[in-house]
Amino acid sequence: MSKLIFERHIKDSNSFTLPPLAVPAADISDSIPRQFLRNQHIALPEVSEVEAVRHFTELSTRAYGVDSGFYPLGSCTMKYNPKINEWASRLPGLAGLHPYQPEETIQGALQIYYEMQEMLSEITGMDGFSLQPAAGAHGEMAGVMTIKAYHQNRQDHQRTKMMVPDSAHGTNPATANMVGFEVIEVESNNRGLVDLDDLRGKMNEQVAGLMLTNPNTLGLFEEEIHEIAAIVHEGGGLLYYDGANLNGVMGIARPGDMGFDVIHVNLHKTFGTPHGAGGPGSGPVGVKSILLDFLPRPVAVKKGDTYAFDYDMPLSIGKVKNFYGNFGVIVKAYVYIKALGAEGIKQACQHAVLNANYLRHQLRDNYNIPLDRLCKHEFIANSKRQANQNHVSTMDIAKRLIDYGYHPPTIYFPLIVSEAMMFEPTETESKERLDEFIEAMRAIAREAEEEPELVTNAPHNAVIRRVDEVTAARKPVVKWEAP
Ligand SMILES: Cc1ncc(COP(=O)(O)O)c(C=O)c1O
Repeated sequence: MSKLIFERHIKDSNSFTLPPLAVPAADISDSIPRQFLRNQHIALPEVSEVEAVRHFTELSTRAYGVDSGFYPLGSCTMKYNPKINEWASRLPGLAGLHPYQPEETIQGALQIYYEMQEMLSEITGMDGFSLQPAAGAHGEMAGVMTIKAYHQNRQDHQRTKMMVPDSAHGTNPATANMVGFEVIEVESNNRGLVDLDDLRGKMNEQVAGLMLTNPNTLGLFEEEIHEIAAIVHEGGGLLYYDGANLNGVMGIARPGDMGFDVIHVNLHKTFGTPHGAGGPGSGPVGVKSILLDFLPRPVAVKKGDTYAFDYDMPLSIGKVKNFYGNFGVIVKAYVYIKALGAEGIKQACQHAVLNANYLRHQLRDNYNIPLDRLCKHEFIANSKRQANQNHVSTMDIAKRLIDYGYHPPTIYFPLIVSEAMMFEPTETESKERLDEFIEAMRAIAREAEEEPELVTNAPHNAVIRRVDEVTAARKPVVKWEAP
């Protein structure tokens, strides 16, 4: 492994020259309170320009993204991000705006903002959107807060519980809990769908609603969604749609028509804006008319030919983000939707579903697929066969995929399938690419049978091999200490 930049430190070597000071040097200790001043040397590495460039170039080659290869990380929709989106979001007239600029000087940006609210409403079947939330989980929080505000506004204070299926993404129960609800888990049936009897049994006047994703986290469409909506609505609750899986239905079916009252959309998954590594996201929250008053403010409005932000929303849950959300991400998603158009959005969904079903079909001879029927944009396999034969686990298979040059699928999620491997190929992969990946998966299945140590000791070609996952999660060491 190459040396760290700290280890290349040579005192007084640096990569910049500054002109002599033209003004007297300021003593910052006068303007910063004593308790905030550093009392130790900062110990940053001092290196030449070429060493700094080599350091960052080397780091960039270690990052794996959709631009470098196939990335079947289920539930994450790691689709290709068209470069025209990046170009548009960097246009000086958009990227250079100041959030305090008067509205008459930002009419173009406001138009994009307003049209984005409208397009999302059209795609999802909702009556209005707020673009403020900065991520999926953040949109969930805002959406569940609107549900809470709705019940409280009706003086229905006894609704203190939120139902969440056992297959849900971890952010769903976490969100409900953060907003102050007690979480009630709803069981899945043996087809991987919401168990209607269990739902009926748990719905009562203390339940504020149900959080659901459709297609669910197993990649399966909740076929009884109208019945589910009826049970929740008849019990006085509201239905929340986790839009992280919207890629599996967009352009074909709308959550609003299925009976959902609130939705968040992960722009950074469904609408081709990059995400991962903690980058900026955007999780707009949309609602049906009964919840419009509670949306986070402000929302963009159009009066005649003029666009403006409306802050006059007395029942709003308030602001959930400074200014207007991650505007750059919103611009990227706007360009994506405009470039594809209604037909293109539908085709993207169809190809995503076709690719997932092709992959599922081609892997079924080599891997166990617990719910092996028509899926939407993703599906679950597991390592049952390999584990029974030679104790090869899902973790081993994921690590071996790294040797073959692929980012592994999502593993050990959802929790209701043991040793799960969740594949989401997305619409942007060609059949040739999928076939290459299938070949790698088949080769690993052969190795697991004939030469299992090759798989159980993988990866062999990665910079870092196996880490102690538990210690890494519980006691992460995220900084380098001088020896
Ligand atoms: C089903 C589901 N819901 C919610 C989220 C949360 O989205 P975000 O990562 O943008 O907070 C994810 C993210 O992986 C997800 O897959």
